[in-house]
Amino acid sequence: MVNLEVFTVSNRSLGKLDVPEASTIKELKSKIAKISKISTERQSVRQEIKGKDLNDSLKIESLKLGSPAKIFVKDLGPQVGWSTVFLAEYAGPIVVYVLVAASNGIFHSSLPERQPTFMSRMIYSAWVIHYLKRILETIFVHRFSHSTMPIRNLFKNCTYYWGFAFYVAYHVNHPLWTEPPAIISYIGLAMWIICELGNLSVHLLLRELRPAGSTVRKIPHPNGNPLTNLFDLVSCPNYTYEVGAWLGYTLMSGCLPAFLFTLAGFYQMAVWALGKHKNYKREFQDYPKTRKAIIPFVL
Ligand SMILES: NC(=O)c1ccc[n+]([C@@H]2O[C@H](COP(=O)([O-])OP(=O)(O)OC[C@H]3O[C@@H](n4cnc5c(N)ncnc54)[C@H](OP(=O)(O)O)[C@@H]3O)[C@@H](O)[C@H]2O)c1
Repeated sequence: MVNLEVFTVSNRSLGKLDVPEASTIKELKSKIAKISKISTERQSVRQEIKGKDLNDSLKIESLKLGSPAKIFVKDLGPQVGWSTVFLAEYAGPIVVYVLVAASNGIFHSSLPERQPTFMSRMIYSAWVIHYLKRILETIFVHRFSHSTMPIRNLFKNCTYYWGFAFYVAYHVNHPLWTEPPAIISYIGLAMWIICELGNLSVHLLLRELRPAGSTVRKIPHPNGNPLTNLFDLVSCPNYTYEVGAWLGYTLMSGCLPAFLFTLAGFYQMAVWALGKHKNYKREFQDYPKTRKAIIPFVL
């Protein structure tokens, strides 16, 4: 049994708890909920005031708690369910893109109408398919360890995704938009298809690591599908493929806003991948040493 003192991130004591060493952070959160007014979904439990959020499946005995043992809890604020999040975040870009594509010709009625080509249809379909895939994966593939997220993230994420959807759709569907040279577009299309399939393959592999209803985390390894071999080189190949898919989209469309969206996504995913990579090394002593976080051999 460990005797823990629980503090807020403003260093105010919430009280002391006796917790079995074999219990998980999830179980600890239920106990914290009883001595504070913070429900389990709103809690971010950490070892230091500005420390990392501890995963629900971690066991108390795996933490290096000092003496006296202290743990900090941050109230993440009001939460929103994942179903709301994915509908707003991922369905929004489809709606915005389709509406802008349909109305660009109307806004620019003085300009000659552009006739759709095979590649312009591919660019349109790629955008819609990408976000439809994300919605379907959120419903049928991902086994998230958190059922909710802070409501302020929803506003932040929607602004990001909807804003870029407008920015990209406006340019790609503008009557004066011109197609890049065919060879570049076709290389982009091939890259987009391979990376979307790779991203899906990695998501399916991650699903297999976690039994339904649990928050178990394991070391991912390639599973025979050649697109998962990237796990030999990086910890987050789904992010590598995601960035590759947007690079492909940029080549297909020759669109600067799409490139800026790729750069912004890359920056965000690189930050997350570095954090996840560090967590893997901390959590699993036998974690493969040769892996990088997101770019093979580099980052
Ligand atoms: N364009 C962009 O800006 C952008 C940004 C972010 C994400 N995305 C896309 O959205 C996808 C999902 O993003 P994400 O950040 O949720 O990806 P992620 O952290 O890699 O997680 C995907 C799913 O796998 C689970 N998982 C991860 N590692 C695991 C392990 N070792 N053992 C068991 N389960 C594990 C996660 O559970 P947990 O809930 O426990 O983490 C989650 O349910 C990305 O792959 C990418 O395609 C795009």
